[in-house]
Amino acid sequence: MSLELDLRDLAADIAREAGELARRRRQEGVSLAATKTTLSDIVTEADREVEELIRTRLRAERPGDGFLGEESGAASSETGITWVVDPIDGTVNYAYGIPLYNVSIAAVRGVVEPGSWEALAAAVVAPALGELFTAARGEGSWLDGVRLAVSTEVPAGALLGTGFGYDPETHDGDLLTVRRVMTMARDLRRMGAAALDLAYVAAGRLDGYLERGLKPWDMAAGALLVEEAGGRVSLLDVESPRPMLVAGGTLVHGRLLNLLAEES
Ligand code: IPD
Repeated sequence: MSLELDLRDLAADIAREAGELARRRRQEGVSLAATKTTLSDIVTEADREVEELIRTRLRAERPGDGFLGEESGAASSETGITWVVDPIDGTVNYAYGIPLYNVSIAAVRGVVEPGSWEALAAAVVAPALGELFTAARGEGSWLDGVRLAVSTEVPAGALLGTGFGYDPETHDGDLLTVRRVMTMARDLRRMGAAALDLAYVAAGRLDGYLERGLKPWDMAAGALLVEEAGGRVSLLDVESPRPMLVAGGTLVHGRLLNLLAEES
């Protein structure tokens, strides 16, 4: 078996276990938490615990690999491979009891920066939805054994996904972008979990997705899912504090890039 497939299977295995832990903690949290404030502590705690599980398993299976996680920071790589991990992507959904959250795990090679690394393997599991998306470089994207393909035609306009950062200062700019891209849309979704947005593009459930200011762990696994499903992913304005990620099938991706170019 190739390195990519080995890494994918490991990512999938750990993601399943981590997803189960996240789901269990959420259920326990509901019965424990009387208020939303308490719930947010439980979410933070679950985030840390899930990342620790992933990190411990990776350290045991591949001790020389690097690690970049949302919660516990970075460890450099001796093998050239680094794991980029979001233990719970969609934390606000998680806190509110919306099932659109996921565990996102990617293995990348080279410089650990989006746009520079080469993604090798990915797993995105949505435990409350019972779905596991996986990809290995050159081996396609899969959802529970079914090969995925991005949408290629959008006769009634594109179903687009987007997201907004948590900083209110950036909302006006993001809303202007939304206004611009709505000219090519049939409708817009804001699901609140970037890795799932990207997995949905890979599955043809969304025709395109764009968002500014994502962190490496929000996009690492999902971008490979899109590319291996035949789609395109671009990162624009990489020098800015909030680069723009654009993903979709060739047609939608191209139209989005054109509209965004008019913006600048
Ligand atoms: C967030 C989600 C959200 C996106 C934010 C991300 P988190 O990740 O993916 O959809 O709009 O930009 O930060 O904080 O839930 O891991």
